[in-house]
Amino acid sequence: MNITDKTHPWQQVPGWFDEYEGLCLQKYVLLTPPNAHIVELGTWAGRSMVCMAEVRQSRTITSVDNYLPSQAGAAATCSPQLAGEMALHLSIRWETNVVLGDVLEVGTRWKRPIHLLLVDDHHDTQHVREVIQAWSPHMAPKSYMCFHDYLAGMGVEEGCKSLGREWRWRDRVKSLAVYQRL
Ligand SMILES: C[S@@+](CC[C@H](N)C(=O)[O-])C[C@H]1O[C@@H](n2cnc3c(N)ncnc32)[C@H](O)[C@@H]1O
Repeated sequence: MNITDKTHPWQQVPGWFDEYEGLCLQKYVLLTPPNAHIVELGTWAGRSMVCMAEVRQSRTITSVDNYLPSQAGAAATCSPQLAGEMALHLSIRWETNVVLGDVLEVGTRWKRPIHLLLVDDHHDTQHVREVIQAWSPHMAPKSYMCFHDYLAGMGVEEGCKSLGREWRWRDRVKSLAVYQRL
């Protein structure tokens, strides 16, 4: 369900992240170091990306999406250009990078340590397990892995059981769950 409440500028971007989930996500962005690298898997129109960009300060944000029409149903209606235009329209500092590609392929060739990973792409259990396997090696000590649609009944909660022993449950606000690496 899209949220119609527009309390925060990022809520003008279409998407599923609601106000409370967004505020929680911003809190964890702000808990990362000032030079942190933040990665999002699943851009769509950029709602959660713009939400993070609003508080990013000097942090770097990269968002990955393949924009294949078969995935997430509505994905074909969006594009990186549209996401960029929306953020510009909202006058939010647009220094995020949208990478066009499959999250698993991008994960296997990723090089930099990540301080916060937001997982919001395909939500089935097996895919979430593969995402965790591909991206965990890049996560810095004390970093956060956040999962949207955790309680949406699509398999995210189950997939998260494959997180290694170095990961601890940290928080949940509505359908956003946060784990932290030891
Ligand atoms: C739920 S939407 C993302 C919502 C977005 N975070 C927001 O706040 O509005 C999921 C997105 O993940 C993308 N996606 C799904 N599977 C993917 C994959 N294997 N690789 C890259 N992108 C993928 C879809 O194209 C879609 O745009």
